Amino acid sequence: MKKDELIALAGKVAQNSYSPYSKFRVGAALLCANGEVILGTNVENRSFGLAICAERSAITSAISRGIKDFSELAICCIDADYPVSPCGACRQVISEFVDADFPIHFKGGSGEIITRKMEELFPDDALSELKKN
Ligand code: THU
Repeated sequence: MKKDELIALAGKVAQNSYSPYSKFRVGAALLCANGEVILGTNVENRSFGLAICAERSAITSAISRGIKDFSELAICCIDADYPVSPCGACRQVISEFVDADFPIHFKGGSGEIITRKMEELFPDDALSELKKN
């Protein structure tokens, strides 16, 4: 699957985002090694700290389906006019399941797509020694 197609899927699923508080609709499309694409959106709550990001939504959905091998992740925030990269918590969670060279694409509602490797977004991973493979 092409990067642009994966990003388009992330943008499409962002329309399902439940984000009445931030009004920041984010979608994530996780391409799995088996070719499946698992989608996720951010899901907010009136107890603000309980919001879950699109990226973690997609990852937990994949794991729940028994899928643990991932090839690429695309993130699209359709309410931003700049590329929205994963938050710190999501960087930690994604890093649990992918290698250092895992590609992460991110984009706003239009324009530029940025691609970074996991290790660029989450350098000096102090806990990598604890990682179970
Ligand atoms: N959010 C995501 O879902 N992914 C990101 O990469 C950035 C932030 C969500 C969390 C919250 O619902 C809203 O965007 C504003 O932070």
